[in-house]
Amino acid sequence: QKATHILGIESSCDDTAAAILRVTDTGPIVLSSVVVGQTGLHKDYGGVVPEIAARAHVERVDHCIEDALDQASLSLTEIDAIAATAGPGLIGGVLSGLMSAKALASALGKPLIAVNHLAGHALTPRLTDQIAYPYLMLLVSGGHCQFLVVHAHDDFTRLGGTIDDAPGEAFDKVAKLLGLPQPGGPSVQALAEKGSAAAFQLPRPLLDRPGCDMSFSGLKTAVLRARDAVVTQHGGLPEQHRADLCCAFQTAVTDVLAEKSRRALVTYLDLDPSQPVLAVAGGVAANTQIRAKLESISAEMNVRFIAPPLSLCTDNAAMIAYAGYAQFQHDQTAEMTVSARPRWPL
Ligand code: KG4
Ligand code: ZN
Repeated sequence: QKATHILGIESSCDDTAAAILRVTDTGPIVLSSVVVGQTGLHKDYGGVVPEIAARAHVERVDHCIEDALDQASLSLTEIDAIAATAGPGLIGGVLSGLMSAKALASALGKPLIAVNHLAGHALTPRLTDQIAYPYLMLLVSGGHCQFLVVHAHDDFTRLGGTIDDAPGEAFDKVAKLLGLPQPGGPSVQALAEKGSAAAFQLPRPLLDRPGCDMSFSGLKTAVLRARDAVVTQHGGLPEQHRADLCCAFQTAVTDVLAEKSRRALVTYLDLDPSQPVLAVAGGVAANTQIRAKLESISAEMNVRFIAPPLSLCTDNAAMIAYAGYAQFQHDQTAEMTVSARPRWPL
């Protein structure tokens, strides 16, 4: 039985990653998936600094590739193709991963595959659960928020998405406002468990408008106002109020994502009822309250809910290797002149 081995490389944001995927007749197996984060490098700046990120990717990418090969017990010569994220993302970072991929592909005489980072996320449920097409996907991360109908590895319909911030970005900004550590998602979630959502009335942006578009930046501003009102009244932010604000914010995000997912499901099931599936990916899909709510909405609508394990939900190179494999099967390889793309809608 012939196996295909794909090396995947990811460097579009603040994680440098390399992975080896093995695909046989029985399906794909992730042999290794190495992810090196950069949270510590950016912590003093309140966000990812593109120059620092790009430099760190350059320094780390070769090592990540070596580690991925070691953990998979494979040598470079056993790799059939090299897949790298070519966008969208921070251009310096994307360039450093793509340049390494080009160098390896040309030195080894192996095909180069240019992968869209969003396609990587969107195809992850096929890697983890081997589901067929089509399915509805909610991609929720620090940089992205959209509903996609996935018809094929290179055929997506966008049903809606955020018109401003991504939810993860809102979690990160709210954490900053409340003096909590980054990344904001896990720290807001942890404190929300000790709070009560009813203590603050926050808006549910765009729920009064039809369709699947979302907005999260106003919610962040509402948290800022509520915080300032508490500080004025109490001369500081008492711990219980901080927890209540976290809980109210997280519940508002959950309500918006839940109602918009319900609408996206109605649209999707109208388009193609052959496979009732809602899948999620992206860092925010790690949130317990959001996950549970999406699960219960899916159950109410008789839809199967798929959430990949966390390590494949957040940025990683296994998803890039898998999306690359799908393109490789269709001879969609790239020229050595292929460019990195800061913007690249699906
Ligand atoms: O997918 P990801 O690792 O990177 C990209 O943005 O592409 O997502 C990271 C985002 C961050 O904004 C982080 O705060 C958020 O996901 N996040 C969470 C949770 N864990 C991570 N947001 C809400 N609840 C969580 N438990
Ligand atoms: Zn991502």
